[in-house]
Amino acid sequence: MPTILDYLKQLKRQGVEYVEVDDEARGVLRELYTRGSARKQPVVAPVAQAIQAVGTTSAEKIASLATQAANWSAVKALGTLRDKMVFSVGNPDARLMLVGEAPGYQEERQGQPFVGPAGQKLDAILKAMGLSREEVYLSNVCKFRPAMKNQTTGNRKPSSEEMAATLPFLCAEIDVVRPDVIIAFGATASEGLLKQGQSVSKLRGEWRQFQGIPLRATFHPSYLLHQQEGLKEKRQVWEDMLAVMEKLRLPISEKQRGFFKK
Ligand code: URA
Repeated sequence: MPTILDYLKQLKRQGVEYVEVDDEARGVLRELYTRGSARKQPVVAPVAQAIQAVGTTSAEKIASLATQAANWSAVKALGTLRDKMVFSVGNPDARLMLVGEAPGYQEERQGQPFVGPAGQKLDAILKAMGLSREEVYLSNVCKFRPAMKNQTTGNRKPSSEEMAATLPFLCAEIDVVRPDVIIAFGATASEGLLKQGQSVSKLRGEWRQFQGIPLRATFHPSYLLHQQEGLKEKRQVWEDMLAVMEKLRLPISEKQRGFFKK
């Protein structure tokens, strides 16, 4: 009888990288754990759904991930995320991947990440770097707008359960795109990827790693929108962007180096 490990190894050989464990499987695993070293009969855990990036090109693989995410049972089971999925946008072969939190009102309406006020700020940051959104890959930790009571135009952060339900897709996207650098915008994306429980102020300013890829955490563009003067925070974000540009060996002019200095 095949063991769970055999089964998982078989899935891995088939190219499956992420496995969602449903309630029944969780119960079986719990039982196994309780049995401890008693070494009774091995149990085969049923696997509800496994994410597979199907296709030849990166674009095809990303499209297949989006199709799977739209019907992901862990998301449906939560019932706290809205129905419309907003997956990602940009170049699936990009050297730079930008990760935000979750779609908001505008993103849900237009079906694209970062198209509201925070998105405009992000476009300005990219422009200052000499980049466009077509050149980079833009995604979110959570692919659905978190639902609110009496929903109108308000937005909220995804809960840790909501993030956990969609994070496997972000990991699968990273595996497909294999960017040279990842930028995590804000506490939610940083926590989702780095799991360090630290504020962005503590995490930013240094290189981190995600799946062997250099990652820079920085303030979310919407945080910059809410700063009255905000020159200090703008400069901090800009210093992170300069570090990213250096890592990507992008040209940097003296003018660019001096942005947002007092
Ligand atoms: N904020 C995010 O983090 N992501 C979006 O897509 C829009 C706003």
